[in-house]
Amino acid sequence: MSKPKVFITRRLPTQLEQLGHIATIEVWEERQPAPYKVLLKKVKTIDGLLCLLADQIDQQLIEAAGTSFKVISQMAVGYDNIDIPAATARKIPVGHTPGVLTDATADLTWALLMAAARRVVEADRFARGGQWRTWEPNLLLGPNITGATLGIVGFGRIGQAIARRAKGFDMKIFYTSRHRCDQELEKVLGVEFTAFERLLQESDFVTIHTPLLDETYHLFGDRQFELMKQSAIVINTARGAIIDPEALYTALTSGQIAGAAIDVTDPEPIPTDSPLLSLDNLIITPHIGSASLQTREKMANMAIANLIAGLKGERLPHCVNPKVY
Ligand code: DGY
Repeated sequence: MSKPKVFITRRLPTQLEQLGHIATIEVWEERQPAPYKVLLKKVKTIDGLLCLLADQIDQQLIEAAGTSFKVISQMAVGYDNIDIPAATARKIPVGHTPGVLTDATADLTWALLMAAARRVVEADRFARGGQWRTWEPNLLLGPNITGATLGIVGFGRIGQAIARRAKGFDMKIFYTSRHRCDQELEKVLGVEFTAFERLLQESDFVTIHTPLLDETYHLFGDRQFELMKQSAIVINTARGAIIDPEALYTALTSGQIAGAAIDVTDPEPIPTDSPLLSLDNLIITPHIGSASLQTREKMANMAIANLIAGLKGERLPHCVNPKVY
């Protein structure tokens, strides 16, 4: 019997030997994602797909998949690029990689918070640009981080990991979330559940850790920025479309907020002519929240484990749509 065929949409930071024992592997070797048309053709002939968040796995593509197609395995925890109801309707399990990237993402969030507050990127440009003439009492001042008030929007694994870091900085920590967490956990983390509006009004730093859903699309718009302190700094390492980019530009240029640091943009990648790119009070990184060596290897291995389980007709270890079983 011939081996099942799998398509992997980019070169992965791990070995494919184990997968190679049971499947014939094709890897998209380019740096840019495979064009949609290529994916559309591929799904007709493969048994499993290992994809990334930059691949659009929509209803049309899922419906085009051949009868032997068994599994979609995404190398990411988020899966807003995949039409889950369409996959479920075809009884195709979708795998993802929760847990292993929590700390790496929280670490980058913290790095961005500190870099934005203390103007690290601006200061680096300043020093390299030959502008460093002497020590100046008013040079590149930013707000205190220690003792400040932090608002965490979304309190899943990553939101909670942020709270653990903030505790070490003696911060007052608010969180808002669809569900209030266990009060024992609130006590341990030293956090207070509050309404979104109050969080916006009272926080010095607001950090976003909610998934992208219909309800969170452009959750941060003109009104939300208007509610915030003029000294506030916003950090987004979740999904770009949670912030309306035009509202962010207005907020940053009109002084409604002091600064922002974003690892994700809407659209992604950020267009090279985006006006946001001209702002000194905005730090932008290219969606590298989970980009530690160890984390990316774990994510790749987890995605392969999901893929293998799906090919064998076994339950995926980390399945987004268990309704298929
Ligand atoms: C995810 O996993 O959803 C991140 O955005 C990328 O690691």
